[in-house]
Amino acid sequence: MISVLLLVAAVLVAAYVFRHVVVNGKRCTSTALLHGKTVIVTGSNTGIGKVTATELAKRGARVIMACRSRQRGEAALEEVQRDSGSNQLVFMQLDLGSLSSVRSFAEAFLKSESRLDILVNNAGVYVQGRTEDGLGMMFGVNHVGHFLLTNLLLGRLKERGPSRVVNVSSMLHRFGKIDFDCLNTHKALGLGGSIPEVFRVYADSKLCNVLFTHQLAKRLQGTEVTCYSLHPGAIDTDLMRNARSLMQMLMKPVKLFFFKNPLQGAQTTLHCALQEGIEPLSGRYFSNCTVRDVGAKAKDDAVAKKLWELSERLCGLA
Ligand SMILES: NC(=O)c1ccc[n+]([C@@H]2O[C@H](COP(=O)([O-])OP(=O)(O)OC[C@H]3O[C@@H](n4cnc5c(N)ncnc54)[C@H](OP(=O)(O)O)[C@@H]3O)[C@@H](O)[C@H]2O)c1
Ligand SMILES: *[C@@H]1O[C@H](CO)[C@@H](O)[C@H](O)[C@H]1NC(C)=O
Ligand SMILES: *[C@@H]1O[C@H](CO)[C@@H](O)[C@H](O)[C@H]1NC(C)=O
Repeated sequence: MISVLLLVAAVLVAAYVFRHVVVNGKRCTSTALLHGKTVIVTGSNTGIGKVTATELAKRGARVIMACRSRQRGEAALEEVQRDSGSNQLVFMQLDLGSLSSVRSFAEAFLKSESRLDILVNNAGVYVQGRTEDGLGMMFGVNHVGHFLLTNLLLGRLKERGPSRVVNVSSMLHRFGKIDFDCLNTHKALGLGGSIPEVFRVYADSKLCNVLFTHQLAKRLQGTEVTCYSLHPGAIDTDLMRNARSLMQMLMKPVKLFFFKNPLQGAQTTLHCALQEGIEPLSGRYFSNCTVRDVGAKAKDDAVAKKLWELSERLCGLA
C-alpha cells in the first residue's frame, strides 16, 4: 500500500516538474529598458504577438502594433494599454498576405516614425489558400510578406543601430524542405490539402524563416543590425483556428499537458529582442532562450541565397 502511494506521489512530482520546468521553460532575464526606442510587432492582436507587445511596452518602448484587422488590432491595443500602462502604442494596418499592403504600411511607417530599433516578425498562419498576389498562403504570409517588410525597413534599422530583426519560426522547420520547382510553377511551397500536406507546407514556410535569417545575417555583416530566428515552444494560441476539426480534437489533450501559455511562449522572442551581448550570434536560431544548432538544410548557403533571389523576384524587389 505504502509503495503504491509512494509511486503515485513520485509520478505526480515528475509530472509537476515536467510541466513547470521542462514545458514552461526558461524566462527572458534581460533587464533592458526601451525608453525612446521604437519596435514593430507583426500580428500583435492575439497570441504570442500580443504578449510580446505588452512586455515591450512595459519596458518603455513605443510599440507599433502591425495587424491586418483594424477592429481586432484596436481592441487589442486597448488591452495592451491596460496591461502595460503605456501610452506609447500605435495601431497600423498591415496585411502580410498583400504585397501592396506591406508597401503602404512601410511607406506610412517611414513617414511617421523616425526610428526603428526592433522588428519582430511574429505573424504567422496555419491555413490553406492563396494570398491576394496568388502566392501560397503560408509561404506568402509567413515568408514573402515578412521578407518584403524587412527589406523595406532595413534602411531605417541601419540608421540608428544597434537594432534587431527577430523572426518567429518554429521547431517544425526541421520537417520542411524547399521545393523550388513547385515554387517556380505554382508560387507555393506545396499543393494539396490533406492534413499531412498542410502540415508540411507550414513546416516549409518556417524553414524559409530560418534560412532567411541565416542569409540576412550575412548581408548585414558590418552593420549594426543583427537578426535571430527562434522556436517559441508549443503554445496554446489561436494558430490552429483554421485547421480541420479532427486535427483540433487530436490536439486538445496534448495541449493541456504539453503546451505553454502565451506569456511563456513569448519568452524566447523577448530574449532575442532584448538580451544584451547576443550580437555575435546574429543569424542563429534560438529555443528556450538558448542558441541552438540547426540541421544542415537550415543553414545551406546555396539554398538560402536561391530562396532570397526568388523572394526578391516574387515581391518585385529585384
Ligand atoms: N503556437 C505555437 O505553438 C507555435 C509554435 C511554433 C511557432 N509559432 C509561430 O508563432 C507565431 C505567432 O503565432 P501564435 O501562435 O501567436 O498564433 P495566433 O494566435 O494565430 O497569432 C497569429 C497572429 O498573426 C496574425 N496574422 C495572420 N495572418 C496575417 C496577415 N496576413 N497579416 C498580418 N497579420 C496576420 C494574426 O492576425 P488575425 O488575428 O487577424 O488572424 C495574429 O495576430 C507564428 O509565426 C507561428 O507560426 C507558434
Ligand atoms: C528549458 O530550460 C530549462 C532551464 O535550463 C530546463 O530546465 C528545461 O528542461 C528546458 N526545457 C526544454 C523544453 O528544453
Ligand atoms: C525573417 O527575416 C527575414 C529577413 O529579411 C525575412 O526575409 C523573413 O521573411 C522573415 N520571416 C519571418 C516570418 O519572420
